[in-house]
Amino acid sequence: MRRTTSPLLLVVLGLAVLAWVLPAFSQSDMVVVSRDPFPAPQRPAARFEHDVHNEKAGLDNCGVCHHGETDGKMDPDNSSEGTPCVDCHAVNPAADPKLRDKTPLRRAYHLQCQGCHENTGKGPLTCGQCHAPTAQE
Ligand code: HEC
Ligand code: HEC
Ligand code: HEC
Ligand code: HEC
Repeated sequence: MRRTTSPLLLVVLGLAVLAWVLPAFSQSDMVVVSRDPFPAPQRPAARFEHDVHNEKAGLDNCGVCHHGETDGKMDPDNSSEGTPCVDCHAVNPAADPKLRDKTPLRRAYHLQCQGCHENTGKGPLTCGQCHAPTAQE
């Protein structure tokens, strides 16, 4: 019987760990909306299980949320999935000449998320229902 740990086993274990870590950056594993762009967050991150949410809500058009931009205007047909909202909606647009005319990030999220929940009469509307502590905190 061999007693030393085989280098091959270590490589296999390493790959297994990588395979587990890497998909954590894709939308299918997303359970909250990241607060990283906000310098001093005041609330727990908003609950948002990307794929589960969109399936339950029957949203298969990515452009409903990931609209892009054409001639400075919002354009759902030119969709932007993979581009973070903060690339176009700054936390403090006044500080960025290129983004000065765009809706600030916090307002953009609240308008988009609460706006649809209000219009459809489904989904949470109160602060604590979205900003609830999760296992990720
Ligand atoms: C439909 C879900 C939803 C509701 C309801 C909601 N928010 Fe948010 N809010 C978000 C999302 C999404 C963000 C962006 C990033 C994050 O916090 O996860 C955000 C960001 C914020 C931020 C900036 C980030 C931070 O933590 O400082 C604040 C402050 C905030 N919300 C406060 C509130 C307050 C107060 C209410 C109730 C009046 C509220 N929100 C209701 C979804 C929601
Ligand atoms: C209800 C709104 C909504 C819908 C519909 C939606 N997404 Fe998203 N998606 C988000 C939000 C919010 C984020 C986080 C954006 C950020 O952090 O700037 C996100 C993030 C992503 C990311 C980046 C993941 C990451 O962690 O970096 C990808 C890729 C993505 N979505 C793809 C899609 C695709 C493809 C579709 C259509 C099949 C889709 N989304 C539909 C709201 C939505
Ligand atoms: C490629 C750039 C781009 C990206 C990425 C982007 N937006 Fe926008 N968005 C715009 C432009 C341009 C407008 C129109 C100017 C404005 O009102 O800010 C806009 C407008 C909005 C508005 C105001 C809509 C209205 O009816 O007044 C909301 C809300 C919004 N975006 C939310 C989001 C959210 C949430 C994300 C990420 C899921 C996102 N946007 C990603 C470019 C972008
Ligand atoms: C275009 C419409 C639409 C948009 C945009 C939208 N939602 Fe929803 N959301 C819904 C609907 C419809 C439901 C109810 C789904 C069901 O029947 O359970 C829902 C349910 C939810 C729920 C409770 C159910 C669950 O899956 O946990 C949360 C939390 C939620 N939304 C958060 C968000 C956040 C955060 C955003 C913005 C990043 C957002 N939603 C944007 C339509 C929307």
